[in-house]
Amino acid sequence: MSSETANQKVDQKVIDELERVLVNADKKTHLSLRYRALFSLNALGKKGDSRAIDAVYSAFGDDSELLKHEMAYVLGQSGQKYAVEPLTKVLNDLNQQVMVRHEAAEALGALGFPEALPVLQKYYKEDPLVPIKETCDLAINRICWKNGLERKNEVISTSEYDDVIDPAPPLPDATAADVSAEVKKLRSELIDQKLPLFYRYRVMFRLRNIGTEEAVEALTDGFQDPSALFKHEVAFVFGQLTSPKAIPSLVKVLEDKSEAPMVRHEAAEALGGIATAECIPVLEKYAKDDVRVVAESCIVALDMIKYEQSGEMEYAYVPKAGGKVPLENEE
Ligand SMILES: [Fe+2]
Ligand SMILES: [Fe+2]
Repeated sequence: MSSETANQKVDQKVIDELERVLVNADKKTHLSLRYRALFSLNALGKKGDSRAIDAVYSAFGDDSELLKHEMAYVLGQSGQKYAVEPLTKVLNDLNQQVMVRHEAAEALGALGFPEALPVLQKYYKEDPLVPIKETCDLAINRICWKNGLERKNEVISTSEYDDVIDPAPPLPDATAADVSAEVKKLRSELIDQKLPLFYRYRVMFRLRNIGTEEAVEALTDGFQDPSALFKHEVAFVFGQLTSPKAIPSLVKVLEDKSEAPMVRHEAAEALGGIATAECIPVLEKYAKDDVRVVAESCIVALDMIKYEQSGEMEYAYVPKAGGKVPLENEE
């Protein structure tokens, strides 16, 4: 089915209902349900339905840093040029919390349209917040890479993570077959602060794609970095890898109250992704953390675990009226 036919299939009533839940119009909707509505809108946005993108944008007046950062992420994964404008507005809005603006900048990088370069360059040069500066740096580099020629000469194997657009592509495949030697080299590059951040991100994603126990260990070193942004991405990658080997370092990060909220938040989400029995009590404990974004991350992570265990078809909110929302993997 073409994406146009898919768009037409969705009744306006469905969009309205999802927007109502996401925006929390009745002020009684639980965060987990709002998250699910967002994931339904994500599926529609990816199919090119601009009404879904507008619906997501309409919720940026909310005060939940967690929900809004996820909204920005969703817009970045939509692949739609239509999302550049709302994301630019979010990045320009200095009243938005740091994680929200960070995610808006990253999303502009994920979309990869050169039209976003001026705003990214502006905040790369003048933003006083380090995570914003660093994110803009990465996004600029990703857009240049995506639209550049060198990319054509790079051989990057497909991986199971290809349905998500990363803030940087993995490094190209190694020419030699010795994986252990490659991981060793990558391990030292990962923590080498003299190397450009974009390159070190590429190292990180290459290590993720290699995915051996040795690669997981190498990634753990990334938590020694001084950059909160870098550490939060390491935690994100662990959530994708779902390796139980990463649990001790993730718990340590979540427990460390001196760690930046963005890093603790991502550690909580990663533990939710790994979801073994030992992750649950930790998440339950920090669901009461006094840092709101950390507490909410644990609540949402626990809901996702509940969904995983329930055997439900899709992590999404399905409106009662107006017909079926197409699932993300449905063509
Ligand atoms: Fe992020
Ligand atoms: Fe996040």
